[in-house]
Amino acid sequence: MSDQVPVVAIDGPTGSGKGTIARALARNLSWHLLDSGALYRVVALVAEQESLALDDVDSLAAAAREMDVAFSAAEDSEQVLLAGRDVTALLRTEAHGAAASKVAAIPFVRQALLERQRAFAKLPGLVADGRDMGSVVFPDATLKVFLTAIPEERVRRRHNQLKEKGIDVSLPALSQEIRKRDERDASREIAPLRATKGARVLDSTGMTADEVVERVEIWLAETG
Ligand code: DC
Repeated sequence: MSDQVPVVAIDGPTGSGKGTIARALARNLSWHLLDSGALYRVVALVAEQESLALDDVDSLAAAAREMDVAFSAAEDSEQVLLAGRDVTALLRTEAHGAAASKVAAIPFVRQALLERQRAFAKLPGLVADGRDMGSVVFPDATLKVFLTAIPEERVRRRHNQLKEKGIDVSLPALSQEIRKRDERDASREIAPLRATKGARVLDSTGMTADEVVERVEIWLAETG
């Protein structure tokens, strides 16, 4: 599918700005958007709601396959609906990020989400944001970007994001949470977070979102 549908894969650690960049790029290009992290967060939410243990791999994979999740585009954000209920704000908490990172280390869960993610690749194109978009989900992506920033800047960005959403967390606690999540995401055996072969690595430290989007658009133009 990704042979015909152009895909821009944007991977990177927490707070690298990939969500913001992917959304802006999709909007500029009028392409579809896949926020793959939201899918892992929904699995974590379903696990919590249904009291599924993290070692109950079969039930977690079944939940990932069967959950009724839909994305709806709003002006400058997307809503995530679980069984028709808006769970967007609930998903954004650090607790659900950490829980998502745990369920994301389970191979059956990743497998169960694979086809669901690939189904987002539709014309005129897809911008996909996550950890393994370029390495596993869309290995034939038109452009693969690995977006990063120094840890201090990622913590600061994430802190601001949470504050904007009215979620108050202390900087040291957030810093520790993000470090733990990075370690878990980068050291897991399946689809670990790292720049895949052929990815353009972009350190966005000190860059504005507009500058990053512009750089990615130049790279995309070069592929054509
Ligand atoms: O991008 P995010 O913070 O919403 O992602 C939440 C967690 O989900 C992240 O810590 C790791 C996991 N994840 C993943 O393993 N693979 C992806 N493609 C996206 C997210």
